[in-house]
Amino acid sequence: MPSIDDRHQAYVRRLAEYSQSHLLAFWHELDSGQQEQLLDDLDQIDFARCTSPIEAYIRNRPAVRIPDTIEPPTTFPIEPSPDQAEQYAAARRAGADAIRAGRVAAFMVAGGQGTRLGFDGPKGAFRISPIRQAPLFQLFAESLLGVERRYRHRPRWYVMTSPANHADTADFFARHNFFGLSPDDVLFFTQGQMPAFLPDGRIALAEKHRVALGPDGHGGSLRALAESGALADMRRRGIDTISYFQVDNPLVQTIDPLFIGLHLLTGSEMSSKAVHKAHDLERVGVFCVADGKLAVIEYSDLPEELARARNSDGTRRFDAGSIAVHVLSRDFVERLTAAGSTIQLPWHRADKKLPVVNERGELITPASPNIVKLEMFVFDAIPLARNPLVLYTRRDEEFSPVKNAEGADSPATTRRDLVRRAARWLESCGVGVARSADGEPAQPIEVSPAFALDADDLREQLKSHPLPQAGKPMLLAS
Ligand code: UTP
Repeated sequence: MPSIDDRHQAYVRRLAEYSQSHLLAFWHELDSGQQEQLLDDLDQIDFARCTSPIEAYIRNRPAVRIPDTIEPPTTFPIEPSPDQAEQYAAARRAGADAIRAGRVAAFMVAGGQGTRLGFDGPKGAFRISPIRQAPLFQLFAESLLGVERRYRHRPRWYVMTSPANHADTADFFARHNFFGLSPDDVLFFTQGQMPAFLPDGRIALAEKHRVALGPDGHGGSLRALAESGALADMRRRGIDTISYFQVDNPLVQTIDPLFIGLHLLTGSEMSSKAVHKAHDLERVGVFCVADGKLAVIEYSDLPEELARARNSDGTRRFDAGSIAVHVLSRDFVERLTAAGSTIQLPWHRADKKLPVVNERGELITPASPNIVKLEMFVFDAIPLARNPLVLYTRRDEEFSPVKNAEGADSPATTRRDLVRRAARWLESCGVGVARSADGEPAQPIEVSPAFALDADDLREQLKSHPLPQAGKPMLLAS
């Protein structure tokens, strides 16, 4: 292990090479613990990887490139047409077979900073379920237990954290006995980091001895899968199909046989779920075929006339909103991340406010955006995939993310949507649900994903379990 002095000297040279010497400006004011901390932060930065984005995205603001052609994609509908019915049935069988054979793993990305929610701790520790107040992590674990009950195989779970929340995440799982899973079922690994930049391209200091670092976006998950050894772990275990979801959406089907089966049978390398947009200008990424390739265009980059365009039958022309649920082939991720691969997902620039240390060592809290963050988005891998597909699903069944503390996409709306979905499932099984005058369920209802994964699963389960009574809180958990 080199001494602090040796490490310091090496960084004096290295930072000069990259015009980032200001990061050591306060070195002689730091105590030895702080010096070590600063060196550890610097070790997290891949300076060579920063050089070209600094020029392209920080010093210059890249122009949004509007593709020459933007067409609506071909999609798989929620309900198959009569001539697709056999294809959907075959896909369900193929997906179920792959799950049973242990070929499918769950992959949750949970490395985000969750700034909008403003919760003290990893977002997955946030208590969301309507009756038990189960945290997000627990609902995903229970979903995997539900998959095991149904398919007699417990899927392996890969959990991506960030350096900032890794220890808290692993500790939360351990304190809760992995929510009924075994520690051997879960592989945690951290994603890469990217520094925050001042507009002139210098890396920002959050404190005299701390570099302003943040996770490199959910697109960083592909590289993290490779660098952490998770891909090699999958290969050893015969896992070839990765079911990707995000920590903020407890309605997700963590592992969906139809979706997986369509992915496998069509030879897709990266598949995506979509919902019908709620309105023309909804702030979701939209699937389209851009210059001949399936892609997600961010709502802010889709020209308004296209967002509002209609087909001849009056339906919306660009209607497939991305819900960040994907299936990826392990081979595909291996190909993108192989040593020597020149494939690089594009960076996305976000201007943010962050207290930073100035040249005089003063901590300045800005009134307007003062730093630039760069992140990669996982959906930018779609155009690189062979035969990518889009499957529509029902928003009220599968999508209600916790993003904000209040208002839209907040704990209140997610809880409401969990209760609404559970009420619908129960009613479809012939169980009465009391409703108030506004039509909302009049009592809290919660179905643990370990008890039932969907309405059909619930119908089966209710054959051998007591029916809940209307008017009382209805909890169905195993
Ligand atoms: P969001 O884009 O909602 O970001 O992440 P966030 O960091 O969680 O929240 P804000 O924007 O600070 O409020 C969507 C999903 O992608 C994961 C998040 O954990 C969440 O599951 N994510 C995001 C990562 O895993 N790493 C990242 O670098 C960014």
